[in-house]
Amino acid sequence: MKVTVVGAGAVGASCAEYIAIKNFASEVVLLDIKEGFAEGKAMDLMQTASLNGFDTKITGSTSDYSKTAGSDICVITSGIPRKPGMTREELIGINAGIVKSVSASLIEHSPNTIIIVVSNPMDTMTYLVHKTTGLPKNRIIGMGGALDSARFKYRLAEALEAPISDVDGMVIGGHSDKGMVPLTAHATRNSVKVSEFLSEDRLNQVKEDTKVGGATLTKLLGTSAWYAPGAAVSGLVQAIACDQKKMFPCSALLDGEYGLSDLCIGVPVILGKNGIESIVEINLSDAEKTHLSESAEGVKKTNGLLEL
Ligand code: 2OP
Repeated sequence: MKVTVVGAGAVGASCAEYIAIKNFASEVVLLDIKEGFAEGKAMDLMQTASLNGFDTKITGSTSDYSKTAGSDICVITSGIPRKPGMTREELIGINAGIVKSVSASLIEHSPNTIIIVVSNPMDTMTYLVHKTTGLPKNRIIGMGGALDSARFKYRLAEALEAPISDVDGMVIGGHSDKGMVPLTAHATRNSVKVSEFLSEDRLNQVKEDTKVGGATLTKLLGTSAWYAPGAAVSGLVQAIACDQKKMFPCSALLDGEYGLSDLCIGVPVILGKNGIESIVEINLSDAEKTHLSESAEGVKKTNGLLEL
């Protein structure tokens, strides 16, 4: 199993690290445009192999896509991250051109690859990859919901004063401050609905804290986060590489599911060796349906800025 991660910045390097630590891939190629940067990160990570007990071989390359040839899964983290006060949508101007050329170069060397898009605005970048590469829709996946759901579980556990392993919950919708739809009515603590433990006000607070999860970190760090994004990507890569048939909310191209079409947005999907094996349609309350369709309108508005 060969995995390429484009972009050796904080998110790309964390992603490579978590994939290696989980020890399911034979090879991870890190690629970056900055001379020597990916090679340096790869060497540093390889020097953790004996300490962390993994056999995954990590190599780095400066813009040489021939090194990525034959990748089973490619992760695109390239582009600029947001700064405090910026929305993810404001990154579209620079990131669209980068994501378009990176995906074309990846497919040239790995025509059968599955692509995971992390670059922001993520739902629109995922849509762009669909529109410009023509790959089958199961092979293009946007990473957002898995990360947003991890942040939701963190906030739920905090409110419940419970260990995170007690908590389950999911965030669907767009990967944006306004577009996320945390499914509070479906969230549970050991299969008991969290509404049995938390007031409506407290749950609304959890919802709001989850939606600005990335912005809160960007303000604290001065740039966007990397540990949880890297860990979330590694979970998706592992589900595909190990054919786990695991359910994650991911940005998928919709064709009528949830009453939506011609956009990529976060919905529950089953991930296995074929990438998106299926899209799961769950029952949403009227309020959740309204929130999801408003979220879709926001994503479509951003998609409208693409020069396709
Ligand atoms: C985040 O929310 C990188 O968009 C990503 O942290």
